[in-house]
Amino acid sequence: MRIFVTGASGFVGSNLVHVFRDRHGADVVAPGHEHVDLTDAALVTRAVAASRPDAIVHAAIWNAPAALERDRARAWAGYVGATRNVTDAANAAGVPVVLVSTDWVFDGESPPAPAPVPAPAPITCAPLTTPAPSTFGLDAMFMLLERNAG
Ligand SMILES: NC(=O)c1ccc[n+]([C@@H]2O[C@H](COP(=O)([O-])OP(=O)(O)OC[C@H]3O[C@@H](n4cnc5c(N)ncnc54)[C@H](OP(=O)(O)O)[C@@H]3O)[C@@H](O)[C@H]2O)c1
Repeated sequence: MRIFVTGASGFVGSNLVHVFRDRHGADVVAPGHEHVDLTDAALVTRAVAASRPDAIVHAAIWNAPAALERDRARAWAGYVGATRNVTDAANAAGVPVVLVSTDWVFDGESPPAPAPVPAPAPITCAPLTTPAPSTFGLDAMFMLLERNAG
């Protein structure tokens, strides 16, 4: 199995690459930010098409909370735009996407991980990575919702 991982130099992405490659023997394609800027739609489409993955795991994020609040346009491009580009590329290639999200999408008014999951109610602009799958034209988006460590 070949898995395309975004954000592979980051905390979550690097651990995912380790697990996929070393524990499960998967073929991992993980172009760095310097090679594939996820805000560049054409670049993302080409990179995904060229690597012919069986699945994509999207673990990239512009991890700069204060800067996100200051520069909403860049925040939108880095979160919503990048996620759209990844999912558009996945749709074009016909492969599923796993989106690594965050519990920052909730406002703390509901207990953690209830079922069904409530609508997102972020209290900062950081967790923009958690739209409905229909936003990106996907039939399904698998979300890996991790709890923030602190
Ligand atoms: N860490 C946690 O404890 C935790 C907990 C819950 C949820 N999460 C979620 O897990 C995801 C990843 O978090 P993380 O902690 O692993 O972040 P991180 O360590 O800051 O890694 C972010 C990764 O994304 C890449 N990246 C950023 N912008 C990019 C762009 N425009 N194009 C291509 N690559 C880009 C970065 O590459 P460069 O450094 O080269 O820019 C880096 O590899 C996020 O959605 C986060 O909400 C993390």
